[in-house]
Amino acid sequence: MKEAIERLRREGPQRISAAATPDELEALRVALLGRKGELTLMLRGLKDVPADERPALGAELNRLKQELTALLDGKGQELSAGRDEGAVAGVDLTLPAPRGAGLGTAHPLVSILESICDIFYGMGFSRAEGPEVELDYYNFTALNFPDDHPARDIQDTFYISDAVCLRTQTSPMQVRIMEQQQPPLAYVIPGRVYRNENADASHSSEFYQIEGLVVDRDISMADLKSTVDTFVRLFFGAEEPTRFRPHFFPFTEPSVEVDMQCVACRGKGCGVCGQTGWLEIMGAGMVHPNVFRAAGYPDDAYTGFAFGMGIDRIAMLKYGIDDIRLLYENDLRFLQQFRGVQ
Ligand code: PHE
Repeated sequence: MKEAIERLRREGPQRISAAATPDELEALRVALLGRKGELTLMLRGLKDVPADERPALGAELNRLKQELTALLDGKGQELSAGRDEGAVAGVDLTLPAPRGAGLGTAHPLVSILESICDIFYGMGFSRAEGPEVELDYYNFTALNFPDDHPARDIQDTFYISDAVCLRTQTSPMQVRIMEQQQPPLAYVIPGRVYRNENADASHSSEFYQIEGLVVDRDISMADLKSTVDTFVRLFFGAEEPTRFRPHFFPFTEPSVEVDMQCVACRGKGCGVCGQTGWLEIMGAGMVHPNVFRAAGYPDDAYTGFAFGMGIDRIAMLKYGIDDIRLLYENDLRFLQQFRGVQ
């Protein structure tokens, strides 16, 4: 008996480590520890051993059983891990993960949005955000849109009901802020807006704007111009000239569209700027008296300017992205390019 135990102690581990498949290992487990297994039979044979040797041999056998069980379990894990490894062909699953693997990263639109807001914080602006599902009143009526204005048309605006829509612009926050607060005030209001557009490389039915609003006594168009120029200089990092073109918005008077010199060609004319040398970056103007009235401000007490810029276009310019839809598809192959980019 003693010899048989010794032999099993020597050979058992070798046989276990030689098992090459989970099936072989299972067969070995039965051969050693099964009901008629080698070790089981030895345990049963204890009754034939002289009584004074029985306790020591019994203890020995139990220890051996524990050792073999542990070895069998360990080998089993090794073999099934090997099976997973085989399933992911060519990948060594035991390699440590690359640093930072699987960590998320800010979406390029979010990092642009935050860095734009940072620039305005530096100029003393506060930040506000408002509802994407908005009353028609704030999105249009309070902003001096006549009842029959084409922008209210269901073709441009997603209506939830007669009185409720998805905001088509961040401008409704102008009135919401002024209802709550007396001048002086300076706010940036970033957020998502919606228009019923057919998607193509430069149109998406959802996109981002940042609204700006400054109201005080004696705010002038010159303040607007210097604010815009400062923003362009700080954001694009160069002295790109800007220009104001007369335009029309119901809620500003006068209204302008602001262009900056094309960052790609420096004004010479190229594909990015449609050969004009200029890129449109925002709509802006002086707050219309009817908007102050809607907010409950006394007539002629204050002046202010407002602007609204599309973030998507700015992100596309900054990163050289040629299709706006890429920004909304959340394809990781696209997004991962912006890991660590500011
Ligand atoms: N809300 C306007 C738009 O979406 C932009 C704008 C904002 C114009 C503020 C003037 C003042 O086109």
